[in-house]
Amino acid sequence: MPSDANVAKAGLEGVVATQSAISDVDGLEGRLIYRGYDIHDLAEHATFEEVIYLLWNGTLPTAAQLKQLRDELSREAPLPAEIKEGINRIPRNANPMDMLRTIVSFLSFYDPDAGDASSEANARRAVRLTARFPLIVTSFFRAREGEKPVEPRPDLSVAGNFLYTLWGREPDEVATRTMDVAFILHADHELNASTFAARVTAATLSDMYSAIASAIGTLKGPLHGGANEGVIKNLLEIGSVQNVEPWLKDQFARKQKIMGFGHRVYKTEDPRATHLREMSRQLGERTGEKKWYEISRKMEEVIMREKHLNPNVDFYSASTYFALGIPTDLFTPIFACSRISGWTAHVLEQYLNNRLIRPRAEYIGPKNLKYIPISARG
Ligand code: COA
Repeated sequence: MPSDANVAKAGLEGVVATQSAISDVDGLEGRLIYRGYDIHDLAEHATFEEVIYLLWNGTLPTAAQLKQLRDELSREAPLPAEIKEGINRIPRNANPMDMLRTIVSFLSFYDPDAGDASSEANARRAVRLTARFPLIVTSFFRAREGEKPVEPRPDLSVAGNFLYTLWGREPDEVATRTMDVAFILHADHELNASTFAARVTAATLSDMYSAIASAIGTLKGPLHGGANEGVIKNLLEIGSVQNVEPWLKDQFARKQKIMGFGHRVYKTEDPRATHLREMSRQLGERTGEKKWYEISRKMEEVIMREKHLNPNVDFYSASTYFALGIPTDLFTPIFACSRISGWTAHVLEQYLNNRLIRPRAEYIGPKNLKYIPISARG
């Protein structure tokens, strides 16, 4: 058993469990950087493809490198026939995150690099997974609606193709850029729970598909990526600005956690929420349906006043996706479609300098018990 001095705080709060050069969160200043670049700078100027390149390679791409990455993503995006068939066989009422986790496992059976654990093969797997995630999600959605999957278009970005293969029609510029920025903002976040899960799995020298399946299962939970679905449920239940105060009062009285608020690391505003709030506002104005943004603002005001909690990334992503007309149970899978870039970057980094991740537990159970034959147990 470790000595008392070594016992971590519950939930490993504050524990620095690894070194990483991919992203950094400054929770006091409310700053997030990817490979040294501030998230505000990237959200304003970059594309998701540039960010993917940055996370994997550590530098922003040249025009030629970006073109090569786009070409690779386009080439790898179409789903193999077996995967399309697999998606069709998933029950229509399945949770889309369970579907995604299952299809990622399924993809491993059709990996052209099967058995090759080299860093080149893993880099190809990272491209394949990142290219295919949006297609898996949209194909499942369409199958559920009784529609055929739509093939991705090589001239569209990852964000553009997500919306195109979801709706079956080309999205406009505002919708495409909104998705693109949402993907940039969700791409990586230091040692969050799902990334940690991916790294723990990779650190056993298990394969990338297994690491990503671990990450998807971890992201699904309502305390992590699943929160954005909880947010929209709450907004719909509240229904009006006038109902915010009484609804929250009741939740507080019942000691309920309000989805989309609070964060383990940020003690001030989550910089991603700053962008998503503005995107939610603009989309509300554009569609003429400002209610969800207005309810959200009121919630923010009351929760700050009563609990001193800030909104996190999941809060305004919910009303943003809702304003785009995206089905609510795809909100967490959208998070995964972006975070796959960060997960794979971390898995690649883990493999490069690996050591098994195996902490200890402080044993608090009984000791020195003697086996009692079953006939003698009361
Ligand atoms: N609503 C109401 N109270 C909250 C809260 C929330 N969303 N988040 C934290 N709190 C309160 C806790 O009840 C606790 O109060 P207490 O000390 O009086 O018991 C205190 O703030 C600390 O919260 P704790 O749950 O210990 O913080 P954590 O670091 O373990 O958890 C989260 C961080 C994100 C899991 C937590 O804030 C949460 O559950 N938020 C809602 C889910 C969510 O939005 N997740 C997405 C994260 S990006």
